[in-house]
Amino acid sequence: MVESTLFKDIEIVTPDGVFQGDVLIKNGKFAAIEPHISESAEVVIHEAGLTLLPGVIDPHVHFRDPGATHKETIETGSHAAAAGGVTSFFDMPNTNPATISRETMATKKLHASKTSLVNYNFFIGATANNLNELISVENVPGIKIYVGSSTGSLLVDDSDSLESIFSKTKKIIAVHSEDEAMIQEKQEQFSGSLDVLDHEKIRSAEGALKSTIRLCDLAIKYQHRLHICHLTTKQEVDYLKSLGAQSLITTEVTPQHLLTFSPDILNKWGTKAQINPPIRSRQHQEALFQALKEGVIHCLGSDHAPHLETEKSQVFGQAPSGMPGVETSLPLFLNLVSQGHFSIEACARLMSYMPAKLYNVKQKGQIKVGYDADCVLVDRKGKHTIDTATLVTKSKWSIFEGLTLTGKPIATFVNGQYVFREGSFFTEIKGKEVMFG
Ligand code: DOR
Ligand code: ZN
Ligand code: ZN
Repeated sequence: MVESTLFKDIEIVTPDGVFQGDVLIKNGKFAAIEPHISESAEVVIHEAGLTLLPGVIDPHVHFRDPGATHKETIETGSHAAAAGGVTSFFDMPNTNPATISRETMATKKLHASKTSLVNYNFFIGATANNLNELISVENVPGIKIYVGSSTGSLLVDDSDSLESIFSKTKKIIAVHSEDEAMIQEKQEQFSGSLDVLDHEKIRSAEGALKSTIRLCDLAIKYQHRLHICHLTTKQEVDYLKSLGAQSLITTEVTPQHLLTFSPDILNKWGTKAQINPPIRSRQHQEALFQALKEGVIHCLGSDHAPHLETEKSQVFGQAPSGMPGVETSLPLFLNLVSQGHFSIEACARLMSYMPAKLYNVKQKGQIKVGYDADCVLVDRKGKHTIDTATLVTKSKWSIFEGLTLTGKPIATFVNGQYVFREGSFFTEIKGKEVMFG
């Protein structure tokens, strides 16, 4: 284990701004951030033109472990994360078995402690009858409720169960917000359809809005923290704006919903671009982009939902929904920075600082003295093309394949330890459980 690392003469991104200087890491924590540090260290990194960002906290991944480890494992997913500058992830509960009890949670955490290269934690999934588990499980990012069904069988959409979860639990509730009854109704209408363009009709914007209003009403009624995952519609953005500035309800957007739109992306990629909730029209995409700029959307999450290319190449109706993305989200955002759409501080804010803040993460999300030394060295000018052959995830395909981006993660540090540098992994390192409170 490396006890100290010194970054010399580097561009440092903090919430207070960007400045040039030195950063010293000691025993896994940021120990000093100064214009010039004279002390030496075990590892000294002095390379011109690089930027140090806080490590990305990806609050939304599906690592399929246990149950579908042919698609991904905590080990492979965490390697993909490290390659993409992600130093902590929160994994969703729709595994098999689903993470719906203290016991399944403990098993996952133990497995992650032995196999994850980066820091980890896990949502507990809500069912209609696991209230005691939701209340008693400790140190999790929150409770995940699938109010609309997606991959797996987790679903809670009856009002009694939702009222009970909102009224009797205290943890942050993160939701997949689509109206299940509307999905079912439209599904019948389009049954037998082979057209992937029907996906967004089945999972309509109206259904997303209806569900989001219902959930926000519950959050307000019980004054319960609500986080809406992967926001997709202009109508939801407008509705959330109408609630005004408040800290009770927060939202996330994925790079795929932010950067692509239907029908173009579906005409190009077919069922590979099929995800829940769907990628929608340009009007929605533009509204999401604007909302992220204005702070109506609070953070990014990749919704890394790996399925094998063979599974995704099946016809509409049989192909599963979801796409990989944990290792492309930071490069895609750095590219937006290079294009002038966002500042580099906004990158650190939306991908590190805000996920930490929204989920009450302890001592992460910033390059700050005393905080955990999770960080990523990036070359903001480095051009590279997304090449599926070099992707680390087991699901080696991407709708962003072939895109040439400016801005590239070079090396990733977790608790002060090198875990990744330009294609190589330091696999003897293990991440730690992310702590909340
Ligand atoms: O498209 C999706 N895929 N949306 C989800 O909500 C779940 C995910 C998955 O786990 O495959
Ligand atoms: Zn979802
Ligand atoms: Zn998801």
